[in-house]
Amino acid sequence: MPTLVLHAGAGGETRPERQAAIRDELQRIGDACWPMLTAGASAVDVVVEATRLLEDVPIFNAGLGSKLQADGVARLSAALMCGDTERFGGIVGLEGYANPILLCRPLLDADDRVLMGDGAAAWAREVGLPERSPVTEERLQQWRAREAGRTGTVGAVALDIAGRVAAAISTGGRGHERVGRVSDSPTVAGNFASRAAAAGMTGIGEQIVDGGLAVRLVAAVDAGMSLEEAADRVMGRILEREWEVGFIAVDHTGAWVARASTWMGWRAYDARGVYCTG
Ligand code: GLY
Repeated sequence: MPTLVLHAGAGGETRPERQAAIRDELQRIGDACWPMLTAGASAVDVVVEATRLLEDVPIFNAGLGSKLQADGVARLSAALMCGDTERFGGIVGLEGYANPILLCRPLLDADDRVLMGDGAAAWAREVGLPERSPVTEERLQQWRAREAGRTGTVGAVALDIAGRVAAAISTGGRGHERVGRVSDSPTVAGNFASRAAAAGMTGIGEQIVDGGLAVRLVAAVDAGMSLEEAADRVMGRILEREWEVGFIAVDHTGAWVARASTWMGWRAYDARGVYCTG
């Protein structure tokens, strides 16, 4: 029973027209990726493709349209984890490229699997990723006006027909952050998978790291808890601490969750149907 869940970030987007645009993009991208999964593509390939397509949507804070850091530079981060091999690959603070998730796929087979800054850019040249500025006029204007913007990280989790799960994530960060800040996304707090489950987080990175949330959720499923129970436990922690965080997760049985303490655009596909954020 394959399953696919994707999201376009927590962060409390309240404008109805922007929420509608987010839902439309998630539908377009989900509808393109779901047939790949049902045709037998691997969970890793599908979450990478979904995240690449999400990175290409300029209204999302990832890839093209990433928020800018304090010095006006976009530094992108992304991560991919394959539950079957339990391998994690991550890119931190990449400049001059708009699809960091495409660098994570070959990292799963590399010796050095989390690369930052100049090392990440060297990896991009090595794998032949075309240079492309991720900076849009809207983000430049927001940066000049010191607006934070409300849209967040993007990502996807999937279960393929061979029973393997994977999680992918991509972000432009918080916006206006200190140069050198690392978000939760390219860490195991933000994106994690085992043979049993895969989870991706979105929201305030410092809170996600403080909670070790993706690892905590997946480890609970590894220990025998149902995905629903594990999600309740993580959500309880988020609400108790009044954190601004959301997450998506899937397990090896095809169960999935999409939860958030703010409005979060998400869309899910399973054998029974298609579901989306209200
Ligand atoms: N969750 C993305 C960030 O805090 O940068």
